Amino acid sequence: MSSQRTLAILKPDCVEKNLVGEAIRRIQDAGFSVRALKMVKLTKTEAEGFYAVHRGRPFFGELVEFMSSGPCVPMVLEKENAVADFRTLIGATDPAEAAPGTIRRDLAESKGRNIVHGSDSLENGRLEANYFFPEHEIVANS
Ligand code: RTP
Ligand code: MG
Repeated sequence: MSSQRTLAILKPDCVEKNLVGEAIRRIQDAGFSVRALKMVKLTKTEAEGFYAVHRGRPFFGELVEFMSSGPCVPMVLEKENAVADFRTLIGATDPAEAAPGTIRRDLAESKGRNIVHGSDSLENGRLEANYFFPEHEIVANS
């Protein structure tokens, strides 16, 4: 399995609860390399654009409100099998259904406030990374 990139976002609840350091510690301990990272406060329009695939779903308005409610920390992560392994590390969408030891189970409070986003496919990972970072801001493995 070759090296992959995925896009993670430490969501506004993660920042609000001062869990950014804890989340990054867990991510690095799991073998992911950080290739890009910043803090941004999304506008509603930007949050709608990022989650456009969910437009029309009943939770879309709530999701957009939440993701634009405060600063968040998008990061490009690299590792072998990064996309699937990051989804395993964060656990199921609903923290109550996430496996013990996952970031969502241990640190998040609800489905709507589940602390972290992870891309769901290699192609979406590439698109989502480029949503936040131009290619020259993603640091290559040296
Ligand atoms: P994410 O995209 O944020 O990594 O989360 P995910 O893949 O685990 O879940 P997804 O289906 O992509 O949903 C995106 C976010 O929308 C909220 N959601 N709420 N109330 C609901 O039924 C519901 N379903 C989804 C969650 O906050 C989820 O992270
Ligand atoms: Mg998703």
